[in-house]
Amino acid sequence: MSSGECQTGNKGDYDEEEKEDAPPPLDEGDIVLLKSYGLGPYSTKIKDVEKEIKKHQQTVKDLIGIKESDTGLSPPSMWDLNGDKQMMSEEAPLQVARCTKIITGDSDASNEGASSAVSTSTKYVINVKQIAKFVVGLGETVAPTDIEEGMRVGVDRSKYSIQIPLPPKIDPTVSLMTVEDKPDVTYDDVGGAKDAMEKLREVLELPLLHPERFVTLGIDPPKGVLLYGPPGTGKTLSARAVANRTDACFIRVIGSELVQKYVGEGARMVRELFTMARSKRACIIFFDEIDAIGGARTGSDENGSDNEVQRTMLQIVTELDGFDARGNIKVLMATNRPDTLDPALLRPGRLDRKVEFGLPDLEGRGHILRIHSKRMNCDRDIRFELIARLCPNTTGAELHSVCTEAGMFAIRARRKNVSEKDFLESVNKVVKGYKKFSSTPKYMVYN
Ligand SMILES: Nc1ncnc2c1ncn2[C@@H]1O[C@H](COP(=O)(O)OP(=O)(O)OP(=O)(O)O)[C@@H](O)[C@H]1O
Ligand SMILES: [Mg+2]
Repeated sequence: MSSGECQTGNKGDYDEEEKEDAPPPLDEGDIVLLKSYGLGPYSTKIKDVEKEIKKHQQTVKDLIGIKESDTGLSPPSMWDLNGDKQMMSEEAPLQVARCTKIITGDSDASNEGASSAVSTSTKYVINVKQIAKFVVGLGETVAPTDIEEGMRVGVDRSKYSIQIPLPPKIDPTVSLMTVEDKPDVTYDDVGGAKDAMEKLREVLELPLLHPERFVTLGIDPPKGVLLYGPPGTGKTLSARAVANRTDACFIRVIGSELVQKYVGEGARMVRELFTMARSKRACIIFFDEIDAIGGARTGSDENGSDNEVQRTMLQIVTELDGFDARGNIKVLMATNRPDTLDPALLRPGRLDRKVEFGLPDLEGRGHILRIHSKRMNCDRDIRFELIARLCPNTTGAELHSVCTEAGMFAIRARRKNVSEKDFLESVNKVVKGYKKFSSTPKYMVYN
């Protein structure tokens, strides 16, 4: 460290010296000086003492005989099984109840007696499922402010006094839909579709980041966005990019997950989903392939299964009405067939924005090709514009496939680099050869 300072300090002198002759090598006295440079007078002594303390700690540990174990348990010799058993028998498990009503005591008493009077005079009506209703008081460890009407609470089994407030009940299948680890897709990975991304960010980021702008203008920000377009144009991809970008909690629901075996289950899942979302600071709910449940209601009533699906969809509709637009929940939906969706779901006030993901234009196609070939071992001078020109009316997914196939051609020829010729061949194969399977023209009719 000190030598570094020296060098920067008088660089000019050093350079001149170097010109004349190399600096003399350091002798032992210099090295000792450098080592002790900048040290306090007691630092070596302190270090010695620290080492000694560590040694003593180690000997004490050895004498006690505690060893680190994988399970994190103490050794069996230290277990107190009897004590634990006694503790278990004393501490009976609590019972779950719902607090249906809070009866506040008369106001005079609470004014006079301050907090203690409040806790004694306020009573709670609880409903223990399949047993009875009780009017009870609070346990010693619960603050009166923690308990609200309609809350789940834990009560003890003898006096039924409220011991602990409980969070709302949420189905584990619903809570597992939260995307915990962020996907590694960023906005840079989405090529073309610039307007669409812009619109999406405007709706999702602006209200979450700058709610005050909407407040000052006095308008409600849009609650939800519908993404639609032919298959493979990047709807799911851009939703993942949004999830990566925002700090908001991201919940991903696939439409078909909400279709359940029993009547009312799907609607209940939707309800729990929104309950969970409301408990977060900011939350984006993404329904992928919403046409699985969002189909238009039909007049004919042949099979009951459709009814159930409709009920789930209607629950989503009511939940969309239920939350405040300035609140913290944004809803994203993606579909290929916007025309089959129920008009009630799409009306302004529920899903205000409809963002189309169309086929990418020439510039967009070049961009997408470049994105997907970025990680490939390509020749330097590949003309992506030309290749993009050769793939009219292709989707992002097809362009991805063009890149992959080009790589396959290179592998087949046992080369380490992908050349432009590979790309041209793969264009022939994917775009011309697979034309039969392309569903884009079919879907372009609907979008
Ligand atoms: N604009 C794009 N930029 C870059 N890659 C894209 C783009 N569009 C599509 N792709 C590629 O296509 C793949 C499929 O896209 P994505 O899953 O988003 O399609 P989708 O629109 O959700 O289709 P579907 O409606 O069938 O679900 C992506 O993984 C990506 O590799
Ligand atoms: Mg998709």
